[in-house]
Amino acid sequence: MSREKRDFDQEAASWDERPQRVKLAKDVADAIVRLGGVHPTMDVLDFGCGTGLLTLQLQPQVRSITGVDSSRGMLEILNGKISGRKLANARTVLCDLENGGALPGKYDLVVSSMTLHHIPVVAPLLAHFYGVLAPGGRLCIADLDDEGGRFHGDNTGVFHFGFERDVLRRCFAEAGFVDIVDDTAAEIVKNDDNGPPARFSVFLMTGKKA
Ligand SMILES: C[S@@+](CC[C@H](N)C(=O)[O-])C[C@H]1O[C@@H](n2cnc3c(N)ncnc32)[C@H](O)[C@@H]1O
Repeated sequence: MSREKRDFDQEAASWDERPQRVKLAKDVADAIVRLGGVHPTMDVLDFGCGTGLLTLQLQPQVRSITGVDSSRGMLEILNGKISGRKLANARTVLCDLENGGALPGKYDLVVSSMTLHHIPVVAPLLAHFYGVLAPGGRLCIADLDDEGGRFHGDNTGVFHFGFERDVLRRCFAEAGFVDIVDDTAAEIVKNDDNGPPARFSVFLMTGKKA
């Protein structure tokens, strides 16, 4: 497993070109609505928002949404979408939580998709999410189930080869979350010319701030 960070700036311009990423964001948004609950009075934070594929699925359904990311390039793409569509309830914040950054504001819902496996130590991040949630607020995290290092062609910047749900559930509980529920949100199929397609499942785990 690589200890090196991945350069997401370089990937930003072509990020949305993979249809499976767009579909995944839709599937994860559907799972968030189903398991976490989304309401027009909610202020939402999307951690590791990238180009905003998930952010913009949720944006029409909530009062406000803040996309947070450490990649300037990713946020430039999302900012272009926000201004191009004249979205008044969406904004972005450049922030790297691992290097002294702090999330701004208070939120009713914190979501994050496919970002946790890029965070070396997850416990401080979950504690940070707990801190920015309003009482009764929810955290919804989507990421890969244990994938044994087969998902990414290049594992640079990948600190977890997916997650064991039981282990992550305990991390949620240790951060203070209650009412923890998980379900399968999506399946990603990667076609391999030399063999059968590889299938990877993506879970959604949600917990409530007491
Ligand atoms: C695999 S991408 C997922 C993007 C988006 N959620 C999606 O599903 O298309 C992971 C994102 O997390 C961001 N990221 C990684 N580490 C971060 C950190 N410490 N703080 C903030 N963002 C981070 C990256 O810049 C990248 O945009």
